[in-house]
Amino acid sequence: MKTSRLGLLLIITLTLWSANALASVSGSCANCHTMHATDGSGAALAGGAKGSLTIGGCVGCHTGNNEEADGASAGAGGIPYVMDTAEPTYGPEFSGGALVASVQTLAGGSFWWVGKDAGADKTTGHNVTTDGLCDFDMDAPGRRDTDQSIFASGTPLTCAGTMGCHGDRTVSGDYASISGAHHGSDAGGIDGSSVAKSFRFLDGILGTEAPDWEYAASISNHNSYKAEARGEASAMADAGDTISSLCGQCHGDFHSGTNTVSDGSAWLRHPTDIVLPGGSTEYASYSAIYGETGVYNIIAPVGVASPVAATADVTLANSVVTCISCHRAHGSPYADLLRWDYANISAGSQIGGVDNNGCFACHTSKDG
Ligand code: HEC
Ligand code: HEC
Ligand code: HEC
Ligand code: HEC
Ligand code: HEC
Repeated sequence: MKTSRLGLLLIITLTLWSANALASVSGSCANCHTMHATDGSGAALAGGAKGSLTIGGCVGCHTGNNEEADGASAGAGGIPYVMDTAEPTYGPEFSGGALVASVQTLAGGSFWWVGKDAGADKTTGHNVTTDGLCDFDMDAPGRRDTDQSIFASGTPLTCAGTMGCHGDRTVSGDYASISGAHHGSDAGGIDGSSVAKSFRFLDGILGTEAPDWEYAASISNHNSYKAEARGEASAMADAGDTISSLCGQCHGDFHSGTNTVSDGSAWLRHPTDIVLPGGSTEYASYSAIYGETGVYNIIAPVGVASPVAATADVTLANSVVTCISCHRAHGSPYADLLRWDYANISAGSQIGGVDNNGCFACHTSKDG
């Protein structure tokens, strides 16, 4: 059959479009799988086969430098590296009045600082034990037995599964809980109907995904997180699809619960899932980082009720505080997985040489 030029163009366009839109793995099976735990020449594979007959496993495959050709810098089609073999350059953050250059970490930060054979500082990240990444085992601070029957102390964290964050948390085991997600299609959008169609394989969580996992975060290139404004002390009164509700699955007491407000509006716990007050408050000055214009600060990001196209700005009236406004999900160089060095934040002083940085992104009048 003779294909017309228009037909050919359509096929090429559709192929390119689907490669981007499907966002699932591609390439030769042998790049990622081993059938008999061998290296391809019959010799035993170093490290053995991992779950789903994969080579390297979650940690092996996701260890590397995002600046390399196969890393997140390649955008869709690259591998999001969340662990490195050398200390990665952390960011975005400011130093000496300018953004730190050549940032190598992604939206979740990196496990490098917490990794037992790397930074080995247990306070800087989630101590995930999959593939021997960390060997620490402690209960989740703020865990409530009533909220959380699956996660209990005495059971270490894993990447996915009942003791992890990714995948179906009702299924135990890293690979069983995420099975099929890497080959799944999220065409049609992230609707939470399966692990593949959830934000970053976080089952049921919504959002829109920056195609390079925020390798080059800016106001025009960032994830958009689902958040919902809720009542002050309501117990997880959202549909369980927000980024903060994910954290609340293990840290329920910090997400909601009683004793979060005293009389009036003075808070007893830092609020999450509330809209930034506008009007003449200091929060009305929440905006882009120094050097960018718009309403979205990549140093202290906000969530929105309806996640926007990954490249879109948000409006102040929709901006909601989330757990990851202040924390990184994987890890950072700083205590408590914080996005910035809390110990360096002092009232009346700039941080990193700029205004409205760190806590001051929202508390814009507190740095003087
Ligand atoms: C870029 C890496 C990569 C390539 C290439 C790849 N896979 Fe996979 N595959 C994975 C990962 C990672 C998993 C395990 C996690 C998951 O299921 O999401 C997996 C899981 C699977 C599974 C079990 C889950 C399911 O979907 O049933 C099958 C079967 C599978 N792959 C077959 C294949 C075949 C056949 C090929 C070649 C056409 C292939 N894979 C190519 C990475 C890859
Ligand atoms: C064989 C290599 C390989 C293994 C093993 C592997 N991954 Fe991946 N992973 C990839 C590649 C390649 C991508 C990028 C393609 C994509 O987004 O699906 C990816 C993407 C991801 C993403 C981002 C998905 C998104 O929406 O952007 C998550 C989360 C993830 N992997 C988690 C895991 C977990 C958890 C495991 C272990 C159960 C695992 N991976 C095992 C290669 C691997
Ligand atoms: C599957 C359960 C689980 C989920 C979901 C979860 N955490 Fe955790 N978190 C833990 C456990 C267990 C610990 C204690 C062990 C450790 O430090 O890794 C912990 C520790 C922490 C710490 C203290 C780290 C330290 O070492 O002092 C912070 C901060 C934190 N989590 C924030 C978050 C945020 C933010 C989210 C959502 C993006 C989240 N967690 C989601 C289980 C979870
Ligand atoms: C306004 C910024 C901010 C927000 C929003 C925030 N945290 Fe924190 N979090 C911190 C700081 C700062 C610390 C360090 C301890 C301290 O100073 O209280 C911390 C500490 C923690 C710890 C370690 C336990 C402790 O008290 O030291 C966990 C776990 C944690 N946060 C989870 C969460 C979860 C889950 C959410 C969302 C429901 C959340 N955080 C929202 C700033 C924040
Ligand atoms: C993403 C925006 C955001 C960031 C970042 C943020 N806050 Fe807040 N903070 C708020 C909002 C919104 C309120 C509640 C304001 C209200 O209800 O009037 C609040 C309330 C507070 C309060 C209590 C005020 C009261 O009226 O009871 C304190 C104290 C506070 N924040 C400290 C911090 C510190 C310290 C940090 C950095 C670790 C931080 N905040 C980071 C948005 C933020």
